[in-house]
Amino acid sequence: MATGNVRPADMERITTPALAEKFIGEQISELRAQIGDKKVLLALSGGVDSSVVAALLIKAVGNQLVSVHVNHGLLRKGEAEQVIDVFRNQMHANLVYVDATDRFLDKLAGVADPEKKRKIIGGEFIRVFEEEARKQEGISFLAQGTIYPDIIESDGVKSHHNVGGLPEDLQFELVEPIRLLFKDEVRVVGKALGLPDGMVYRQPFPGPGLGVRCIGAITRDRLEAVRESDAILREEFRKNGLEGRVWQYFTVVPDFKSTGVKDGRRSYDWPVIIRAVNTRDAMTATVENVPFELLQYITSRIVNEVKGVNRVLYDLTPKPTCTIVCE
Ligand code: XMP
Repeated sequence: MATGNVRPADMERITTPALAEKFIGEQISELRAQIGDKKVLLALSGGVDSSVVAALLIKAVGNQLVSVHVNHGLLRKGEAEQVIDVFRNQMHANLVYVDATDRFLDKLAGVADPEKKRKIIGGEFIRVFEEEARKQEGISFLAQGTIYPDIIESDGVKSHHNVGGLPEDLQFELVEPIRLLFKDEVRVVGKALGLPDGMVYRQPFPGPGLGVRCIGAITRDRLEAVRESDAILREEFRKNGLEGRVWQYFTVVPDFKSTGVKDGRRSYDWPVIIRAVNTRDAMTATVENVPFELLQYITSRIVNEVKGVNRVLYDLTPKPTCTIVCE
């Protein structure tokens, strides 16, 4: 059994359901030995890493796990509902759901600078999580979905990437059951744990969520246009076999309007930018060659179904010169 933060050279790569089952069995014993009858807290975003950690802990210690799902109002369509459905309804987890939408959007009102937006979202996230942690009694452990690339590439503390650190009085002992796994292994384990494909195979989603896809100062109506157009793009990529093949795809709504014609009348509305890229390491990225007919179909759906939008653009720029997130 591997201990510490270094992946042993002879550790077998988890590529099959049988190897995943073996890993799950070992982790359940290890987690029970570490946690005993104490309580564990987890920030559950619904991303594959924290979801796999939650599912492992539910199997190992059941309701001694307290999962906190913070909805910052910047989640994709249906995401919070899926977390509640999978973890509370299906796995009967002890899930605290916090709808902090108003709090985040009030703080973000009028803030256009992308770095300031990220700081506000990260800072507010940690404050909401802290408040929930303080409401819980007798927590001894903090579980995290740290994976091996986090350890290799950074200081190994995943939450710092998105949410900053917890204060002194909330420094619990860490529980990091997937810290030696690579992303593809986490997905194999997630599948074996019975998590839905939409959770296991989902594309990367930045911590600041749709907030960085609503360029400029976030408003509720423009955020809704990002959310609805993103849902259409994801649905069409899934139906047309691009899901799982294209690394990351999303829509962005910038803060300007232009004229168009809708229902025989002049309109003055926002554009939606579609971005679809492939990369190996996220340091450089190329643009996906999406079939033109599909782009035309998605365009017609977006302009017809999304309120306040009269134009759709496809971003043809690789990284560099653009970043992947077009914020
Ligand atoms: P950029 O835009 O820098 O993105 O080319 C590279 C990759 O990182 C993701 N990304 C983030 N992921 N928290 C995350 O967990 C973040 O704050 C964040 N910002 C960017 C981005 O989606 C891409 O996959």
